[in-house]
Amino acid sequence: MSTLRAIAPEALTEAQAAEELAALAAEIARHDALYHQRDRPEISDAAYDALKRRNDAIEARFPRLVRPDSPGRRVGAAPARGFAKARHRKPMLSLDNAFGADEFGEFVTRIRNFLGLSASEPLTFVAEPKIDGASINLTYEKGRFVRGATRGDGTEGEDVTANLLTVKDLPRRLKGDAPALIEIRGEVYMERGEFLALNAGLEGEGEEPFMNPRNAAAGSLRQKDAAVTAKRPLRLFAYAMGEASEKVADTHSGFLERLEAWGFHVNPLSKRLEDWADANSFQEEIGAQRASLPYDIDGVVYKLDRLDWQERLGFVGRAPRWAIAWKFPAEQATTVLRDIEIQIGRTGALTPRAVMDPVTVGGVVVRHATLHNEDEIARKDIRIGDTVIIQRAGDVIPQVLGIVSEKRPADAVPFVFPDRCPACGSHAVRPEGEAVRRCTGGLICPAQVVERLRHFASRGAVDIEGLGEENVILFHEAGLIRQPADIYRLKDHRETILSWKGWKDRKLDNILGGIEARRRIPLERLIFGLGIRRIGEANAKLLARHYGSFDAWREAMIAARIVGSEAREQLGSIIGIGPAIAEELVEFFAEPRNIAALDALMAEVKAEDAATSSEAGVLGGKTIVFTGTLETMTRPEAKARAEALGAKVTDSVSKKTDLVVVGADAGSKAAKAAALGVRTVTEAEWREMAGFSA
Ligand code: IVH
Repeated sequence: MSTLRAIAPEALTEAQAAEELAALAAEIARHDALYHQRDRPEISDAAYDALKRRNDAIEARFPRLVRPDSPGRRVGAAPARGFAKARHRKPMLSLDNAFGADEFGEFVTRIRNFLGLSASEPLTFVAEPKIDGASINLTYEKGRFVRGATRGDGTEGEDVTANLLTVKDLPRRLKGDAPALIEIRGEVYMERGEFLALNAGLEGEGEEPFMNPRNAAAGSLRQKDAAVTAKRPLRLFAYAMGEASEKVADTHSGFLERLEAWGFHVNPLSKRLEDWADANSFQEEIGAQRASLPYDIDGVVYKLDRLDWQERLGFVGRAPRWAIAWKFPAEQATTVLRDIEIQIGRTGALTPRAVMDPVTVGGVVVRHATLHNEDEIARKDIRIGDTVIIQRAGDVIPQVLGIVSEKRPADAVPFVFPDRCPACGSHAVRPEGEAVRRCTGGLICPAQVVERLRHFASRGAVDIEGLGEENVILFHEAGLIRQPADIYRLKDHRETILSWKGWKDRKLDNILGGIEARRRIPLERLIFGLGIRRIGEANAKLLARHYGSFDAWREAMIAARIVGSEAREQLGSIIGIGPAIAEELVEFFAEPRNIAALDALMAEVKAEDAATSSEAGVLGGKTIVFTGTLETMTRPEAKARAEALGAKVTDSVSKKTDLVVVGADAGSKAAKAAALGVRTVTEAEWREMAGFSA
């Protein structure tokens, strides 16, 4: 995974954004394939969604960089290689969810309003357990099974006819009267017991087991070799209709009867409810039976019985107005908390994680759960040895909800959250008003070092040609670079590097040359390159301009530790440097190992004083246009700040414009900027660039 991931989208440079969009496109495509084609997802749905959101955020900021293979442009999952594509005659849709009686009631009201029915008109529904399997579309012509396809993206799936022919529940010929053409939809699933036996067998052969029965069913259905599918205990329930050449029933319950007459298995728990109010008790009844059913279900689907009403109601988006999936609440379980581990993220955040006795929740064995942050542990008074209640909803990371206080062992003591980073021993501090504690050993902490080194060498910072992320990781893994100073000592490892496969003199010389070219570093780039939290390019520039030289800055930062000192006052007086930023600087210099790393670096390089620095500022010489309403400052203030930072502010957007700051309700200027490919930023991004305190 890219270490750029730790940088907020609004802080990425264009080059970084391009690099990350490429990485995200590849990574998301890989997860799509793992999920849709191989049925072996490696990450949770929530983590997958986070990748997509990040991609969207970066694309929104850099519309010019949207790639032809952007994950946002791909719809659903392309059919896996090796299977022919199969277009559904009618799209296969999904269902809206309800999470309780209120939401179910709203669904019923929407139907009444849409159809103009009075509140006293009874509404008959059919309730069916919602099977957790893989949905399929089966085409029958003149009563003969001719083709079966996976759902795919809803419009087009994979032709898995050969594999479906091995499923015993699938009628090859419909019994009795059959229409000339009909598409039957249903769920291919695997019983839990069969799933466990299959996994045991796979593990015995040294193969990877499936995560759950749903993945096992979908994976077995997509075997390239139908002989493998034939050995998998797949089953089938039918429950819906796609295209049909003639009317087959007046009601859904009538349709289910015909399905059975044709030879399909219809879930035996399916039931016609004479009135919608019966849904409550049905939901409870099925919920009570859930654990003892041989297959996984995650809710109950309620479908309006009258097909003429279904027809009138139609669809909204990708879901019908006439059906809803009423989901069961998240599953819970209790187990014993054995330890609390602290994990350190790439940006230094310390996150507590519960280590527990293994327990099965919703069919999945869980050993770890998130504890969020130290306040949550204190608020719930969670102690090692406690019996904890955990919850798992969908595919999200399990959470610890609380404890069973009666089961607390007598010797349990409150958990003391560490104030040192477990990875590097540096102080871990928690800024006022924030929930997260962070390691301050940015320059030396092994959990953060790759990200820091990459940032140090990046174009916006020290700008070392040839030392991109890939090489940083390579040299770091080989133990050659652990802190910025090591970059300048890389030349001492020439022989080692040249002994690696694919490394030639020229390639290495290019990198070493790039490093040597940066032994003189403009002060603001050096400060920015240290990767201190909240010190972006603009703040680094403010600091460099204020203190002028590296030595003056270093001395002032150390002296500023003392609250009320002259140095602290002076730091606070710099326009644009608010208390939160001052705090971060002070914390960085409070960690002796950071200072040691900094001094080691300074033994290798020379910082160019700010006054003599030839570098233009982030906004120096740039032409800026403001459009729309800025919410946190007036136009005159924004203009004054831009000019103070060396920019020219104009009223209209042209090709010569470098930057358009887009406020609320922006009109044609934003559109024009987009059309001309001029960079646009939000108000928040502008604040960051201009060095306003967060
Ligand atoms: S009806 C237009 N009935 O749930 C309605 N779906 O979230 C189409 N599912 O893709 C679906 N049991 O895989 C329907 N009894 C049932 C179902 C069911 C499971 C799945 C199906 C569908 C998904 C929709």
